[in-house]
Amino acid sequence: MFSLQNKVAVITGGGSGIGKAISLLFAKQGAAVHIIELNTDAATDVVAEIITAGGKAQAHAGNVTDQAAISAIFNGIGKVDILVNNAGIAHVGNLENTGEADFERIFQVNVKGAYNCLYAAVPLMKQNGGGAILNMASIAAHVGITDRFAYSMSKGAIFAMTLSVARDYLKDNIRCNSISPARVHTPFVDGFIAKNYPDNQAEIFEKLSKSQPIGRMAKPDEIASLALYLCADEAGFTTGTDYPIDGGFITLNN
Ligand SMILES: NC(=O)c1ccc[n+]([C@@H]2O[C@H](COP(=O)([O-])OP(=O)(O)OC[C@H]3O[C@@H](n4cnc5c(N)ncnc54)[C@H](O)[C@@H]3O)[C@@H](O)[C@H]2O)c1
Repeated sequence: MFSLQNKVAVITGGGSGIGKAISLLFAKQGAAVHIIELNTDAATDVVAEIITAGGKAQAHAGNVTDQAAISAIFNGIGKVDILVNNAGIAHVGNLENTGEADFERIFQVNVKGAYNCLYAAVPLMKQNGGGAILNMASIAAHVGITDRFAYSMSKGAIFAMTLSVARDYLKDNIRCNSISPARVHTPFVDGFIAKNYPDNQAEIFEKLSKSQPIGRMAKPDEIASLALYLCADEAGFTTGTDYPIDGGFITLNN
């Protein structure tokens, strides 16, 4: 089950955290994995790990905000069966302490970056008879979270783009879904704790772990398993849906 043999999968931000776990698992299931990354060294390391394990992978240096560069990468790959729009960045702040530059930065990477990859991938999927798209949203798209104004805006847009693309490309056999994780223990989380709470990192880590009713953060592999299901042919009846994977965050936090 869940074989990705003969599939070509493009994963943005596959050099770290959730994207890395997805890249490793998809390659293990037989996909030829293409990682688009700002951090070329990280992407090259993941590709080396995949090739050493007998899989197929290639790293592409790229910034998802750059439409021309992203289109050139996708057109160079040619055949795309799976797109995972995973690259994303965070910002901590409410409306009043989210300046224009903060808002713009989050929009460019999290929203326009996903749009650029969809824009490049969908025509290739149409030519190829279909495909599966997975967008990385967040619980911040669904519930109010303190001090996540710009980030929530971007993940709400991801959810809305998921619905729009799923609707418009039903006839082209393209499925499009999103995943909404609660906190996942990745360098993204470690980085923003270090940056925003330098003086009480352990305390904040504990607090963020406990904010999931299940009592801990998710592991990247747990997100990758859901991603595999949604991108595999076994999920052929599944489109236009968001899947929370949140240790009970949305429904049990009362
Ligand atoms: N970690 C969490 O708790 C959590 C929870 C919900 C959703 N998410 C989402 O999951 C996704 C991955 O998060 P993660 O925790 O694995 O992050 P991470 O920081 O560990 O990895 C993200 C990767 O994306 C790459 N990247 C960033 N900007 C890029 C750009 N402009 N172009 C190309 N690559 C770029 C980075 O170099 C990095 O390797 C993000 O969209 C994030 O919003 C994370």
